[in-house]
Amino acid sequence: MTPTKLKPDWAGDDLLSRLVNRAIQTPALYALMKRQARQVMIKTAEKNGVPWRQTCATLDTPELRQQLTALTNPAVVYPDYYQVPFHAYSEGNLCWQAALEAAPATYAMALRVWPHEDLSWQTAQDRLRQSFLTVLDQYGPTRVDDILDVGCSVGISTLSLHRHYGQKQAQQPSQPHPVQTVGLDLSPYMLAVAQTQDAGGEIAQWVHAPAESTGFSEASFDLVTMQFVVHELPRTATQAIFAETMRVLRPGGALAIVDNNPQSAVIQALPPVLFTLMKSTEPWSDDYYTFDVEAALVSTGFEPPVLVPSDPRHRTLIARKAT
Ligand SMILES: C[S@@+](CC[C@H](N)C(=O)[O-])C[C@H]1O[C@@H](n2cnc3c(N)ncnc32)[C@H](O)[C@@H]1O
Repeated sequence: MTPTKLKPDWAGDDLLSRLVNRAIQTPALYALMKRQARQVMIKTAEKNGVPWRQTCATLDTPELRQQLTALTNPAVVYPDYYQVPFHAYSEGNLCWQAALEAAPATYAMALRVWPHEDLSWQTAQDRLRQSFLTVLDQYGPTRVDDILDVGCSVGISTLSLHRHYGQKQAQQPSQPHPVQTVGLDLSPYMLAVAQTQDAGGEIAQWVHAPAESTGFSEASFDLVTMQFVVHELPRTATQAIFAETMRVLRPGGALAIVDNNPQSAVIQALPPVLFTLMKSTEPWSDDYYTFDVEAALVSTGFEPPVLVPSDPRHRTLIARKAT
């Protein structure tokens, strides 16, 4: 029997991966790939029913832009890895275009998980979130009152998490306070969109801070999540975030991660055009696909994590802090 490959051939130090990297490092080719990546992304999304340009136009109001100053923490120092071109935006996540397009990009991402089913983007998004929450219900902490969503982007992950635990808590007899959820991100542009989307003020706080140094007191949370964040980070940043998460979690609490599954057959078989576009817009891909996340969690002091392939492309990891 052929053993399962631990990672795709297009990531790491394999020949195919090195060839793609060489192309990405050639400026003229890279510029072309970036433009290409953007066009393909928007065209495919709209063809599949995601209202890409309409969502951006509706979101982009003077009120949104006015929120930037109030949400920006002037003490934040952006790490170098965060100040590189990302997702075909030359200013990475630190610009309005990235923030305005984050929601439609997230809707399109969920549709790509089930390409052979005729799903609406809303159904695909619900299914994506539910597949993570189902694993959390099975292996996560039984009591969750305080939640931190790290790398919350425009708040889609934060709101689904908050509502899920709000409903669960309503069925429990004694509760210290209603579920409180914090969304934290390094991009104040993303946070401005998140706050606008949270029209009912369900989320306790939208916090501008690096996840490596959140500013929260020790043992503040029962659950910390990183939803589709780790593949966008160099491993050194992920390790620092794991250490910070350990500090802010209560004993018995857990860190839950959902992200691309390096062992997914779909990801390993991505067509060349797709993995090249992906590598050209997500600079830490190679580092992610060759990083042993489970070992890093254990060496931070977490109990050995549970790992579940939660959908055809993604895996969920749940790591507990010992009681
Ligand atoms: C792909 S998005 C996350 C999507 C979101 N969690 C969801 O599931 O819809 C990754 C986010 O991580 C944020 N991020 C990256 N590095 C970070 C760091 N060191 N601290 C806080 N946020 C960070 C980015 O700004 C970006 O908004």
